[in-house]
Amino acid sequence: MRSLIDFNSGWLFEGKDEVRLPHNALDLPFNYFDETAYQRVFSYEKRFTVDPAWNGKEIAIVFDGAMANAKVSLNGEAIAAHKDGYTPFEARLTGKLKDGENVLAVTIDGSENPEIPPFGGQIDYLTYAGIYREAWLRVTAPVYVGNGKVETPDALADRKTVRARIDLANPQDLPISGTVVATIKDAAGKTIATTDALIEGDSVDVALNGLAGISLWDIDSPTLYTLALNLETPHGRDQAQFRFGFRTAEFTTDGFKLNGRALKLRGLNRHQSFPYVGYALGRSAQERDAEILKRELKLNMVRTSHYPQSHYFLDRCDELGLLVFEEIPGWQHIGGEAWKDESVENIRRMITRDWNHPSIVIWGVRINESQDDHDFYQRTNTLAHELDSTRQTGGVRYITDSEMLEDVYTMNDFILGQEEWGGNRPRTPLRPQQEVTGLDRVVPYMITEYGGHMYPTKSWDQEQRQAEHVLRHLEVMNAAYGDPQIAGCIGWCAFDYNTHKDFGSGDRICHHGVMDMFREPKFAAYAYISQCEPEDEVILKPVTFWARGERNIGGVLPLMILTNCDEVELAYGNNAPKRFTPDREAFPHLPHAPVVIKREHLTDEELGLWGMSWEDATITGYLDGKPVKTVNFIADPIAHELEVAPDTTEIGAEGDTVRVMIRALDQSGKKLPFFAEPVSIEVSGAAERLGPGLVPLRAGSTGFWLKSTGKGPITVTVTSERLGRAVTTLTAS
Ligand code: GAL
Repeated sequence: MRSLIDFNSGWLFEGKDEVRLPHNALDLPFNYFDETAYQRVFSYEKRFTVDPAWNGKEIAIVFDGAMANAKVSLNGEAIAAHKDGYTPFEARLTGKLKDGENVLAVTIDGSENPEIPPFGGQIDYLTYAGIYREAWLRVTAPVYVGNGKVETPDALADRKTVRARIDLANPQDLPISGTVVATIKDAAGKTIATTDALIEGDSVDVALNGLAGISLWDIDSPTLYTLALNLETPHGRDQAQFRFGFRTAEFTTDGFKLNGRALKLRGLNRHQSFPYVGYALGRSAQERDAEILKRELKLNMVRTSHYPQSHYFLDRCDELGLLVFEEIPGWQHIGGEAWKDESVENIRRMITRDWNHPSIVIWGVRINESQDDHDFYQRTNTLAHELDSTRQTGGVRYITDSEMLEDVYTMNDFILGQEEWGGNRPRTPLRPQQEVTGLDRVVPYMITEYGGHMYPTKSWDQEQRQAEHVLRHLEVMNAAYGDPQIAGCIGWCAFDYNTHKDFGSGDRICHHGVMDMFREPKFAAYAYISQCEPEDEVILKPVTFWARGERNIGGVLPLMILTNCDEVELAYGNNAPKRFTPDREAFPHLPHAPVVIKREHLTDEELGLWGMSWEDATITGYLDGKPVKTVNFIADPIAHELEVAPDTTEIGAEGDTVRVMIRALDQSGKKLPFFAEPVSIEVSGAAERLGPGLVPLRAGSTGFWLKSTGKGPITVTVTSERLGRAVTTLTAS
């Protein structure tokens, strides 16, 4: 049987510090840093002793990901190299281990080597150096299960079929024979069906037919199954499992269909980066991001811009029912022939790693926003189809009239805002498909970016700008919902991210997220959140900080209220309350149009003018005539309290991480949007703080991650000169 041993602890970094993987080679400040600082070589070393139980076994170290150009040696001898920073690689140790202590050394090179995608041009994101994903020691029989591809060819039939191709790994080139027993199990581990096959070569095909009582994988009921394999050869046994789901997914000329049912895709792009530690947060942070996208932002789609992301993230997308567009590394630039060869290999590495994820419904096989390149993109498309005939390809471009080599024309349509550059076109949320493609026919079509640099918005920006930010996201979504030829839209982007000097606000941040880097929502987040059904959650989010003088000329009008209620009541001061309904005229296609209270809806007396007293207000959402949610605004907020809110208080002991949010609240418990005073953060007990200990609040909040260092209680103490001290305890076990 195989064992997969955690190989993350006890690495010596740069010959001096003991570190645990995932590891960021050089932590960065929040902003205004020099991004060339990590663009150099770093070294890691791990000493370990051979276990006699490994005798006669195949031994490999599996790295889930390291940035970049990793070179691995064992006891001074080079044994593996891997250029790509986003896919796993293995270093085979069999036959090379010596008795007693062995030294495994890894160098990674954070410099932007133009030979390696995505490098060679400008890139609007950072590629933080480090062994930033987990590493494992894998011990198997000499012949073992290498990979497996599970397919469900008739997922919608009453009686279903599973077909799988199992690739055997046989690095010693031994003569192989024996059997594979393949068992399908449901999520509770119950056996659904089983079969066996004789081994005749280095891959085995199995088929299980007539499967009854199977549930489909869908966004609201993401039922998963496992194909468990028992391999027996004269060289020993192995066990492996592959998780999969039964579903169909198709981009058609009239939209996207999941299990044959039309589904408008509503998504955001995700970069896998975090403040200070770059890419180097492990399982729980990866999973949490998927949860935020699905459960908080209420999305049904995410694009892993612009590279393959952690398998923990993708696993959680499978479990949550969050669809994924996954793509190869790149940003606008296409390099020379060797670079292209490497990029084609990136297709292979991405697809063979991820082909069993039911959440992934399309492969991105172009360099994001690159120019057409017939031969190159014919190669990437052909390979993607050869490796996986069950999924369509897309390739993200911003150019019009681009050669359609993919199955889906996937377009970054940044037309909204172009009117600010001049030209005759009035404000337009999205262009018609055929204007973009230049084709004489309709093709499967999806919007993969909009927003972003067209309207960067910080969480501490003026309320009016933030309202415009909201409006733009709503307008594009409304257009996508209204056009049956559009499969859906994936906005730019979920979270603010650190970037190169050539992009962003000069502070090395693209403030493009609907959430900030700590995943704290801006108002624009609620453009998406409010599209969920009230049975899921009742949403009532007025786009205002509620102040007399934050907007130009004063007041809060026009007041957009993002909601899935069917009526909203505003009660201001002592005036009689007034009711308003969603603005379906401006947003006819959105599942839930916002309520927009305009100047003409209220008299000057009803909301007052500059110079008049500013009053409290209550906004109430109604469904079917019944009040279902209330938001109270107070007119005289005062800094009152410091909130320290960890995502969870129970974490794992082995380097597990958790986000802790810190917020300054007023006397009614609302965040103070312009509170910017510093707080100090101390972490004691079984964890360390990631990031600095003295930070300002930004837009009334900040956050940090802590990382466990063992078992036991953890105390977080946050101190503000004005608001005093807030203490929270967690436990690592
Ligand atoms: C796109 C690009 C993204 C990001 C975005 C900002 O051109 O694909 O990576 O830079 O612009 O709006």
